[in-house]
Amino acid sequence: MDDRKPLLQVTHLKQYFRINRKFTVKAVDDVSFEIYPGETYGLVGESGSGKSTIGRSLIRLYDPTEGKIIFNGMDISGKLKSEENRKLRTKMQMIFQDPMASLNPRKKVIDLIALGLDIHKSCSSAEERKKRVYEILDMVGLSHEHANRYPHQFSGGQRQRIGIARALIMNPDLIIADEAISALDVSIQAQVVNLMKEIQRKTNIAYLFIAHDLSMVKYISDRIGVLHFGHLVETGTTEEIFSNPVHPYTRSLISAIPHPNPAAERERKALSYDYATSGIDYHQGTLRNVGGTHQVLATEEELQAWTAK
Ligand SMILES: Nc1ncnc2c1ncn2[C@@H]1O[C@H](COP(=O)(O)OP(=O)(O)O)[C@@H](O)[C@H]1O
Ligand SMILES: [Mg+2]
Repeated sequence: MDDRKPLLQVTHLKQYFRINRKFTVKAVDDVSFEIYPGETYGLVGESGSGKSTIGRSLIRLYDPTEGKIIFNGMDISGKLKSEENRKLRTKMQMIFQDPMASLNPRKKVIDLIALGLDIHKSCSSAEERKKRVYEILDMVGLSHEHANRYPHQFSGGQRQRIGIARALIMNPDLIIADEAISALDVSIQAQVVNLMKEIQRKTNIAYLFIAHDLSMVKYISDRIGVLHFGHLVETGTTEEIFSNPVHPYTRSLISAIPHPNPAAERERKALSYDYATSGIDYHQGTLRNVGGTHQVLATEEELQAWTAK
């Protein structure tokens, strides 16, 4: 995995919001990770940990306070030239938790899905435009008749398919899915996740899959990053994280997941973690390698203590 070239490389990203003269929110504080072509990177952390801010910084809804973002070999962390901006707006797409909020209720599905094509003037005829939309409808499991309906005529799961279609039509290399399935019923969540996986097999698209629920992230991700108070405290393959969680915050998250097996569930001990009383200072630690692609934010002493058996 390491000899491949990353699609996205984030190094020492900081995104601060200055509230007033005395107070600045450090929403993202020195976060580094990479995403390879065709893989799913799951970003997990409790509400307020900075997940959405990372997504928005990547897609350049904000100007990063500090750090570097390389996407497709292109530095997108500074001021963008119009051609770079155009490339970013097509090759990186975002889907959100509430597709209804981003879908104009007065527009038909065909026009909603074709929006990106229209903005970038990608089609030379109405025929071509319709054909592209139909192809994408097939891909997300909606029918061609759906093209002439309005968003309110769809269920939550179907609306999220429209959201995915709308992102896909631009042929992106990366989709950032910010809590995209968190609001759906569990059975519908599985359908949408399976659809996303199927699309990935066909197109080799990469996902940054953002969620607060680690068990959901586990199911879809090749690799995972655990975020806490704006810091990436642990990252690695899904296997590395689940078989050998090192950071006490990661351990507490994993210990909170119920076991499907009743005997194992009776044995499960939820570990608590309180940063304020933990003695840990995220600013003192650096990302340290613990084997493979597995890294933990720690000082030398912390790492020794956490890995001592
Ligand atoms: N535009 C903003 N201005 C000020 N503070 C913000 C802004 N956006 C997010 N924050 C703050 O940054 C922190 C991280 O927020 P967010 O990235 O939305 O977390 P998450 O998506 O993990 O719930 C929170 O404390 C939030 O209040
Ligand atoms: Mg969020």
